[in-house]
Amino acid sequence: MGSLRTQVGIVGAGPAGLLLGHLLHLNGIDSIIVESRSREYVIDRVRAGVLEQGTVDLLMAMGVGAGLERRGLRHDGLFISFRGRRHHIDMADLTGGKAITVYGQNEVVKDLIESRIATTRPLYFDAEHVSFSAVDSSSPIIRFRHGGVDREIHCDFVAGCDGFHGICRPSIPNGVLATYERVYPFGWLGILAEAAPSSDELVYTCHERGFALFSMRSPTITRLYCQVPPDESIDGWSDGAIWEEMLTRMTTSDGWKPNVGRIIQKGVTPMRSFVAAPMRHGRLFLAGDAAHIVPPTGAKGLNLAASDVLVLARAMKAFYERGRSDWLDEYSDVCVRRVWKAQRFSWWMTSTLHRFPDENAFDHQRQIADLDYLTSSRAAMTSLAEQYVGLAPEVSFESAGL
Ligand code: APR
Ligand code: PHB
Repeated sequence: MGSLRTQVGIVGAGPAGLLLGHLLHLNGIDSIIVESRSREYVIDRVRAGVLEQGTVDLLMAMGVGAGLERRGLRHDGLFISFRGRRHHIDMADLTGGKAITVYGQNEVVKDLIESRIATTRPLYFDAEHVSFSAVDSSSPIIRFRHGGVDREIHCDFVAGCDGFHGICRPSIPNGVLATYERVYPFGWLGILAEAAPSSDELVYTCHERGFALFSMRSPTITRLYCQVPPDESIDGWSDGAIWEEMLTRMTTSDGWKPNVGRIIQKGVTPMRSFVAAPMRHGRLFLAGDAAHIVPPTGAKGLNLAASDVLVLARAMKAFYERGRSDWLDEYSDVCVRRVWKAQRFSWWMTSTLHRFPDENAFDHQRQIADLDYLTSSRAAMTSLAEQYVGLAPEVSFESAGL
């Protein structure tokens, strides 16, 4: 049995766990990260790729933004397309110069793993049977098996950064958490294709046949999505059928359409909104997808995880440096306020752009009028733009030691 000691035990090496580990490191706070998957799996997992202005600023301030600066694609605007026409929303103009950056989550995770390894602080991949106990005491214990050896980590806090399907949230006793959920009656079929992006900016489309989204990963890789039934099997979709559907939904009357290329990855993702609160039980703090899920339409998932851990790092810094626990006590409330605003925005983007199976002709005409208003009113465009580039951070970077 290997017995280890650290200040913060972090469960999960996704964006939340890795960002938290680095923020703590910058403040001289020790942590051990325990991840159940392999390094390759964690990096290769295909996820979303839009970073809010505040997330970009955070990564830069943390000194982990070199890859982002070199390969990230800054977008000052986006397009909303309906009835065959693309309408431009100039986000930078509407928000006083803010933008989003397209940089795949797997790139973010790869950069953060390299930074973690450079700090020489521990990160265990392929951890088996991860569990913990005594989170309601001042010395919780995380247990896991690694390389055939049973280990336990004695720590002051456990950070539950293990995503929606992790063990941390379900281990909280019944009755502690309130949960809120909406499952949408559709999913997204997503592909990566070897094709140069045919637009410099994202195109969100509401088409008679359903939602579609044009995005990208690099100057040679296009990322596309289209709305499908929630239980759709990807095996039923040939590459030819995927291209036909994507082109039907996205081609506009001026002839714009995505470039076609070899499909190198494809899959179907279900869509849900979920919140669990409070994001704390005793010395266990939930962050990121472990506490909340948003539908990908607003591109908020990774950005909310970054916001949570900034608030948590500030609280832990104050605890260790000044013996203050009031910011730990406020952690959940500060995060949950932002989470609900992101939930509201993601739900609104989703409802505005998708076709619902139970909608009637009135609902559809109202939806088109919504889009018409959105793309012709500067006030409505400003509201979209300020939420899309991200609301101001909940706490200052300085308060988290940056
Ligand atoms: N023990 C250790 N690690 C675990 C366990 C466990 N029992 N269960 C899950 N994990 C790991 C997962 O393998 C994953 O690497 O926790 C990590 C959680 O990472 P994410 O799911 O990426 O969640 P998070 O870090 O909160 O990032 C939020 O991820 O899902 C996307 O769109 C979402 O962009 C958002 C971001
Ligand atoms: C992506 O590029 O994967 C992406 C972009 C915008 C979204 C969701 C996903 O809203």
